[in-house]
Amino acid sequence: AYVVTENCINCKHTDCVEVCPVDCFYEGPNFLAINPDECIDCGVCVSECPVEAIMADYEVPDTMTSFIKLNEELAAKWVKSNIARKKDGLPDAEKWKDVPGKLSQLQV
Ligand code: SF4
Ligand code: F3S
Repeated sequence: AYVVTENCINCKHTDCVEVCPVDCFYEGPNFLAINPDECIDCGVCVSECPVEAIMADYEVPDTMTSFIKLNEELAAKWVKSNIARKKDGLPDAEKWKDVPGKLSQLQV
């Protein structure tokens, strides 16, 4: 499956959700998660993300492997918050772009 990784945190641009053919994105306060059981590995969402937060599970770098399980857990937790239409990104998205160590900012 494809995985939303750290750079989405506090940015949440949501361009990714518009293109997903199976609508498998789920929204939390400052992050989106992909349900790995629903993702069909089409890969079209990858190039939509302005901060390059989405990648295939086998491409996730060692420093971010925790995001694989996190997408699964958060997609389940946020099951009632399916998102398929783009909305505005978070107000401080530009400020948080590429800031390292954002996992500590994640709101669940
Ligand atoms: Fe949706 Fe395809 Fe992205 Fe999976 S890889 S989340 S199916 S757009
Ligand atoms: Fe996040 Fe990028 Fe989608 S910032 S909400 S993964 S477009």
